Amino acid sequence: MDKFIITGGKELSGSVSVSGAKNSSLALMPASLLATGVSILNNTPILNDVFTMIKLLKHLGSEINFQDERLEINTNKINKFTAPYEHVKKMRASVYVLGPLLARFGKAEVSLPGGCAWGPRPVNLHLEAMKKLGAEIDLKDGYIIAEAKQLQGAKINFDISSVGATGNAMMAAVLAKGISVINNAANEPEITQLAEFLIKMGAKINGVGTNKIEIQGVEELKPAEIKTIPDRIESGTLLIAAAMTKGKIKLTDTSPGHLEAVLLKLEDCGCKIVRKENEIIIDAKNTELKPISITTSIYPGFPTDMQAQWTALMSLIDGVSTVTDTIYFDRFKHVPELNRLGGKIELDRNTAVITGVKKLKGAKVMSTDLRASASLVLAGLAAEGTTEVLRVYHLDRGYQKIEEKLKSLGANIERVESKEY
Ligand code: EPZ
Repeated sequence: MDKFIITGGKELSGSVSVSGAKNSSLALMPASLLATGVSILNNTPILNDVFTMIKLLKHLGSEINFQDERLEINTNKINKFTAPYEHVKKMRASVYVLGPLLARFGKAEVSLPGGCAWGPRPVNLHLEAMKKLGAEIDLKDGYIIAEAKQLQGAKINFDISSVGATGNAMMAAVLAKGISVINNAANEPEITQLAEFLIKMGAKINGVGTNKIEIQGVEELKPAEIKTIPDRIESGTLLIAAAMTKGKIKLTDTSPGHLEAVLLKLEDCGCKIVRKENEIIIDAKNTELKPISITTSIYPGFPTDMQAQWTALMSLIDGVSTVTDTIYFDRFKHVPELNRLGGKIELDRNTAVITGVKKLKGAKVMSTDLRASASLVLAGLAAEGTTEVLRVYHLDRGYQKIEEKLKSLGANIERVESKEY
């Protein structure tokens, strides 16, 4: 089990390229099941979650070739329709195979996702959408047993906006008979890219990028090729690293438009931001930052995947600010660990109340989940002395070599083998 050893206090500078978006890859990969042949996903990030999805697709019978961020998925020999617990428990996004398997093969057995570091993270909206499209859904021994000779187009109205349920519904509806309309659809950039990929495969979709998606089912789809969009959460995380160390950095191969809510908050707090087509420059040198409160919301609002990182930033800014998560009410496992570094953060239901401190002091801290771990690394970059972040396998799920990226910006961070866990 690896850990990071970070010596804080280094002002970050320089330029770094952002990797492809994890949450786009995790939708595009199962979408390839909808066609027979070889689909190609370029700029696929080299992450543990991508390897978990590769294992699941191989289990189903796909042949995979993954070299230098180019992922080839050959679906000519799909011969299984089950997503076993051993895969799904590692990664909730495995449930994304439900829609494509049902649409293409008329059956799917998918384990219900296990728990998460925070949750519950139900899949009821996914199942209701499949039922609306005519699938028989049973729950047996912790598995979703789904059958549908032929899915029928339907109106799907999501009570709440769900990225995953929107993705699954789209991937099922594209091969259903007739027209489907998805109301209150999520329009995160990753869902927009999934729709674009499905259209490249021959799907007929209107309303891409809006909250109302209309799909005219087709007989069959063909394999396609696409370049994965940049990871907006990795971009935001690196920008906060620069803000916390009062540095100035440039992100390349990124999409400023996909994280405007975060950029605006960074500007409110006093950082200078320059937006270029595929670049973002942040300058926090010699800047007295101001405490700025945030409340997470669905896209294009402030993303829940960025609230732990924002909490780390606010912990070092003089004054009081709040971070409220309206998507996941208990996604605050990072708070006790940030407090061990000297943070002064109190929890009031789904709001963290942060009183900025002059300095954080390095300590040994424990990763609990992907974004919580990121916030601990960020705090370590700014803390006095040495911070050890244990269980960095959580980070490796969603950040491609984050320590290499930070090191290239001047951070003093090393990955070492650790017997501790
Ligand atoms: C996606 O998860 C992302 N994961 C998450 O990123 C992200 O935090 C989340 O969207 C919200 O933006 C991937 O894309 C692989 P949701 P997803 O369905 O699809 C409730 C990361 O750190 N809900 O949009 O699972 C749910 O409990 C990960 O990269 C139901 O009630 O999220 C939550 O409160 C973490 N029933 C809200 O909807 C359902 O059937 C939004 O969840 C589904 C969801």
